[in-house]
Amino acid sequence: MRLAILISGQGSNMQALALACQRGQIDAQAIRVFSDRADATGLALAASLGCASEAIPAHDYPTRAAFEQALERSLVKFAPATIALAGFMRVLSGEFVARRLGQMVNIHPSLLPRHKGLHTHRKVLQAGDSQHGATVHFVTPELDGGPAILQARLAVAPQDDEAQLSARVQACEHIIYPRVVGWLSRDQLCLRDGMPELNGERMHQPLVEDF
Ligand code: GRF
Repeated sequence: MRLAILISGQGSNMQALALACQRGQIDAQAIRVFSDRADATGLALAASLGCASEAIPAHDYPTRAAFEQALERSLVKFAPATIALAGFMRVLSGEFVARRLGQMVNIHPSLLPRHKGLHTHRKVLQAGDSQHGATVHFVTPELDGGPAILQARLAVAPQDDEAQLSARVQACEHIIYPRVVGWLSRDQLCLRDGMPELNGERMHQPLVEDF
């Protein structure tokens, strides 16, 4: 499998995926990291991991459509089978996503469908939720709304603040994301008729792992 990883920031999930490729948990023939920001610290991290990378700064383009065309050109050249969004902070258009249904996955820091969007750790604390976590899902045109594949669930502790929750959730993300991309790399997982199918079984619900 050829794996494209899209980042905007620090790239800790990108690192987890790259390390999983190195140890064979993900069966990837080639990896390439793409960033929509030239100053993403994840670009240096990718270099230190020996991953090829490319910045396509969104700010260099006058419109989202122009940026997506540039991203599209780079992706077509690399020809990935799978595109993993790993802290990629740009909303991709419905057309862009629809062309790649079943090919793109994302990791979101909440137990979807709860708390879509940003600031999920804050929302969990404000809502007084007793559980929190992260979700790996297929990307569809609905933001954070694609079919969920695997969730990491953890209990919110009374003393948790936003930073502590974020750190604990991220540690789980680094375990579940490589697992899902590993399934894709070995053709164990696909999206069929809008529903994930793992080892030939349709997944009516995401798998949930407690941490
Ligand atoms: C992660 O928490 C992920 O769930 C969210 O963005 C964050 C990215 O962190 N989509 P990193 O850049 O992978 O460290």
